[in-house]
Amino acid sequence: MDYKFTSKSVEDTLELAQNIESEKFPGMIICLNGDLGSGKTVFVKGFAHALGIEDNITSPTFTIVKEYPMGETALYHMDVYRIDGAEEFGVEDYFNKDGVCIIEWAELIEDRLPEERLDINFKIVDENTRILIFKPYGTKYEELCNAVL
Ligand SMILES: Nc1ncnc2c1ncn2[C@@H]1O[C@H](COP(=O)(O)OP(=O)(O)O)[C@@H](O)[C@H]1O
Ligand SMILES: [Mg+2]
Repeated sequence: MDYKFTSKSVEDTLELAQNIESEKFPGMIICLNGDLGSGKTVFVKGFAHALGIEDNITSPTFTIVKEYPMGETALYHMDVYRIDGAEEFGVEDYFNKDGVCIIEWAELIEDRLPEERLDINFKIVDENTRILIFKPYGTKYEELCNAVL
């Protein structure tokens, strides 16, 4: 089952991300897709803040992954927009860690993603409105969506 959430402001998106963080579990994987400026990084900011990470979160475009080990749980923030297909970047290594992985532009590495995960697709409606479609794969992610949405 898919879930739909309408965000009417940056604050709505931050709050939603914080609510998801409150249901986190080890090895959680969240895949974010949607156009540039649709709010993927805003979502990561809200999640990181709720974890107690005080760093300023920006998209790790040139490094692919930024690691934040200092929060309640480690956070691995990836942006695979510029991933080179030939590049031997070991995303899989991160999926096997106990922290939380959040991947922007995850659809670009679809064939390398684990089966069990939460996909969130962001759509721009107007200046301040975004529609988020949640697709949980696996029981744990279904339960999470049930609890939060
Ligand atoms: N409801 C909303 N949720 C998230 N961001 C919003 C919303 N409305 C407007 N915005 C703006 O959209 C932009 C989203 O940027 P960002 O999160 O970096 O996008 P992405 O990472 O998807 O490219 C920000 O400038 C933010 O202020
Ligand atoms: Mg981004």
